[in-house]
Amino acid sequence: MGGRVLSVASECVPLVKTGGLADVVGALPAALAAVGWEMRVLLPCYRSLRSLVGGWPVVWEEADLWGGPGRVLSGEVAGVQVLLLDAPHLYDREGGPYSGPNGEHPDNAVRFAALSWTAARIAREGLDGWKPDVLHAHDWQAGLAPAYLAYHGSGGVKSVLTIHNIAFQGWAPAHMLGVLRLPGHAWHPEALEYYGGISTLKAGLVTADWITTVSPTYAAELMRPEFGMGLEGVIAARGASVSGILNGVDTAVWNPGAEDPPFDRKSLAGKAAARAGLCAEFGLEVPGPLAIVVSRLTDQKGIDLLPAVIPDFVLGGGGLIVLGSGDPGLEGAVRKLAARFPGRVGVRIGYDEAMSHRLFAGADVVLVPSRFEPCGLTQMYGLRYGTLPVVSLVGGLADTVIGASPATLAAGVATGVTFHPVDALGFGQALAQVLALHAQPKLWAKLRSNAMAHPVGWETSAAAYAGLYERLCA
Ligand code: ADP
Ligand code: GLC
Repeated sequence: MGGRVLSVASECVPLVKTGGLADVVGALPAALAAVGWEMRVLLPCYRSLRSLVGGWPVVWEEADLWGGPGRVLSGEVAGVQVLLLDAPHLYDREGGPYSGPNGEHPDNAVRFAALSWTAARIAREGLDGWKPDVLHAHDWQAGLAPAYLAYHGSGGVKSVLTIHNIAFQGWAPAHMLGVLRLPGHAWHPEALEYYGGISTLKAGLVTADWITTVSPTYAAELMRPEFGMGLEGVIAARGASVSGILNGVDTAVWNPGAEDPPFDRKSLAGKAAARAGLCAEFGLEVPGPLAIVVSRLTDQKGIDLLPAVIPDFVLGGGGLIVLGSGDPGLEGAVRKLAARFPGRVGVRIGYDEAMSHRLFAGADVVLVPSRFEPCGLTQMYGLRYGTLPVVSLVGGLADTVIGASPATLAAGVATGVTFHPVDALGFGQALAQVLALHAQPKLWAKLRSNAMAHPVGWETSAAAYAGLYERLCA
């Protein structure tokens, strides 16, 4: 059938990105267009975007967005139909989407309420004759959009909320209820109340017509206390309207051969040259497998386990390059590793898209030892580049990697190495397995070709989203 979707989020590639959310929001429009759904993306006009939008027409106006007016500009970027909410009093600030030089913006609840409010109004009323069938909200920043539809009238629009990471819940104090334009009758534990305050994510969870998350395993995990982070009961209560749809990756961007010479997808020729280039760049000499980490350096990602497991891996001939930034303690820990093993461990603290491509093209394995991982994208880049993923068996990692075991090796289907529970013992054993597998070139080549044959594009998941929209609108 097909139709129209208004997607609402705080990040979208190539305009603004702090993590995988941006990749997914930016990739969905093209993926859905292929199955007949036209998607526009509504985003805040952060300072970094202002210069871009000079000539864009104004298509919507809001008189009162919490202390000032707002207007929506419409344009196209990299094939994505973008709607930018320009409200300088909220978004024209130094820093990233959520924080400035002095930390998190204290008015984030209001900043993203304004985004959600505008989204709900556009969805309800339509924009220049463009009336969406579905409003698709992403994470806590857009959590109030389904709530505004539920409490102020939906205009027949269906709502979907996607959880990309339950760790971020969008908290506001109780006295903000009215300020956030939420009705008093919603103030109870079955609705918006959350530990004495308001959670904008919970608001979306209790009001959206459907809830998705970014992998089937994470959908199941979210209903358990170890992963639900306080919202497990809320999600379980909505269990009949929750599903997991795996993310894909943009195979035009992550495209060995075309995008990352000299690596050639068909023949694997050039992988060795790419690896040699990488070792030269970081001053490394690695006789065994070369591992990489490309990640936010946070507790979620299990980075703190590296100092416990890397010494044995290096002793066994392995090497490591880490590209990432985040927690200062973890940045220090990986720097220390590099200082301890010069010639074997390299570190680049920072964010560098071009370097991440070189790393996936040249490395042998990518390490993703996450404690929880809603989906994860880097293990999929690894599959695509024949850079075998070494992952903990949680969330989307469990749904995308087939770990080498006697059974999967015998069946010829393994695509990587997996471990659980997420601790130094399990991770260390996984790295020992990497060393053993890498020492058997024929077997390694087979794992590599399995990995590269594993589909990581958007086709299946785009069809799943289209099916969901169609069921909701039927
Ligand atoms: P999350 O969204 O939890 O950070 P994902 O694996 O879903 O995890 O997405 C992370 C995205 O950010 C990937 O596209 C990854 O390549 C990219 N990324 C993370 N850190 C860096 C970095 N330091 N330099 C370049 N890209 C990075
Ligand atoms: C979140 C998750 C990550 C997921 C991404 C995109 O940032 O941490 O696992 O891949 O969102 O959905």
